[in-house]
Order: sequence, then structure tokens, then C-alpha cells
Amino acid sequence: MRGNLSGSGRRDDHFSITANRFSLNVEKYCNLNPVLLYSIIEGRVVEDLEKQMPWYDSNWLIAYKRVKELILLNCPQRLDEFVRAFEILKTRDNFVAAKLDKPVFDVVMLEKSRRIIKDLTEEQHEKHEVSRMDRTIVHNHPYFIEVQKELVDLVSDLAGEPVEPYYNFLCMYSNLGVCEVHMDTPEAKWTLDVCIDQFAPWPIHFSQVRPWPELGQYTGDGWQEQIKNDPDNHFSSLTLSPGEGLFFAGSSQWHYREKIKKSQAKNYCHLIFFHYVPKGTRDLVNTTKWLDKFDFLELALR
Ligand SMILES: [Fe+2]
Repeated sequence: MRGNLSGSGRRDDHFSITANRFSLNVEKYCNLNPVLLYSIIEGRVVEDLEKQMPWYDSNWLIAYKRVKELILLNCPQRLDEFVRAFEILKTRDNFVAAKLDKPVFDVVMLEKSRRIIKDLTEEQHEKHEVSRMDRTIVHNHPYFIEVQKELVDLVSDLAGEPVEPYYNFLCMYSNLGVCEVHMDTPEAKWTLDVCIDQFAPWPIHFSQVRPWPELGQYTGDGWQEQIKNDPDNHFSSLTLSPGEGLFFAGSSQWHYREKIKKSQAKNYCHLIFFHYVPKGTRDLVNTTKWLDKFDFLELALR
């Protein structure tokens, strides 16, 4: 299991047993607070919620929906307060994903980034998404942490609100690279995606801004096609050249890249994703902080 399931062994044990019983993807939930996790997965509920939200990165929204259900059950008078606290993480309806007018990385930054990728050791490549997307990733490399800080003013202008960095990751796709249609968690409310290197332009497709998809409207074997073909989603496409960046609201816009078209022996696309949240919301987006932030959750989750 990746990540850190801290807390008492009893809860971890209970988590493993319950997760197995309901065939849950253990890794998907390993960044949740164990107490929260315990409450969320108890019973049949998460299995049903996973069917309603089958896409990559849906774990946050599943937790949010489940906690709302528990509040409604155990202290319904606090539900409005909980829901209102998250309004700041929702994206305004008229926001549109767009490529930036000017390159984000100049020649020197591109060279430095390519050197970093070339010098990565085998151990530095995180490989847990190789089978699903044919990509390795590296979280929060020191160089990109510094670059991300320098981009705060630019991103605040683009977002129309003050932001702060949350995390970044280098993403190195290979021959069978693909990014299934999904929405990000609000830990990535705003994303600046910069192309470092590629063998050919590789389109990314975005829906318009949509409400958080909590209603289970895309389910069953064809859920991906349902999302892509839903006329309310209005998909459009963008491509990048090295150094260029695009800005989008990944937790309110569906997005995907089709499988890389194999045009040469070794295909690749190297991208850096800088994720930002509204200034002051680090604890709000972090599910492990919810019990501290909302005193009534202790009551609601018991
Ligand atoms: Fe994403």
C-alpha cells in the first residue's frame, strides 16, 4: 500500500478486513484519515458510491458525499454549515480552460527540466500508474517546488482568486500512454500543465465547468462514453508545444487524453502539473484535517 495509514493498528486492521470484504481499491483510500476512513467504508456504502463515481481520483468526492450522508443522519442541523464551507472549492460556471499566450518555461527552464528527468534514478520513478496509464511520476521535486512558488501570482491572475501551491508532479508517459476521463480532487482545484518534452502534440480534452458529479449519473460499463457523449459537457481540445502551458479547473472539468498514437518506436510525453488551491484552504481540501476542522464530525461519524 502506498501512503501512510497512521493511527491505531485496530483501525488499520479493520480497514483491511472491511476493504477486502467489499473489494475496495485499498490504495485509493490510503491518504484518508483512519478515523474518517473507518466511518466511510463501514457497511456497504462505499462499494455503492464507487459504482456511482468510477473514475480515477474520485476518492475525495466519495469521502465528501459519504460524510454528508452521515451528517444528515446524525446531526442534520450542521449539514448546511459543512456544505457551505466547501463552496470556495467550486469553480465559477463561466471559467474556460485555455492555453497561455506566452510560454511558461523558457529555454533554460526546459533544459533544466529535461536534465532532471534524464538524471532520475529508477527508484525515483513512482510506478503505481504504469499498468493503468503507462506513466511514471515524481511528486514535488525540489526544483519544481521552487518554480511552483514563483508562478503563484500568474496563477492567481488566471484563477481570478488568490491561490497557494498544494502539490506538483512530473508525469512521464510512454508508448501506451493514456489518461482516462476523470475529474481531479479539489486538492487540484486549479492546474497549470506545462509540456517539457514530447514526440508529437498530444491533445487533451476538457468539458466545460460542471457541478461536482455526486449524483451517480455515469455508471455501468459505458460510463466513460456516457461522460464524453453527454451534450451538457461540451468537450473541446487543446495541444501544447514544449514550454507552453494550459490552465484548467480539473476538479470541475472532465478531462482526458486518448491513447497515444504510436508513430515511432519510442513514443513519449513529459509534462509537469502544478496544482493550486484557493489561499487558506489547505486544511479544507485535506480529508485528514476534517475531524479537527469540523468539531461536529466526531458526533456524525461515530
Ligand atoms: Fe486530472
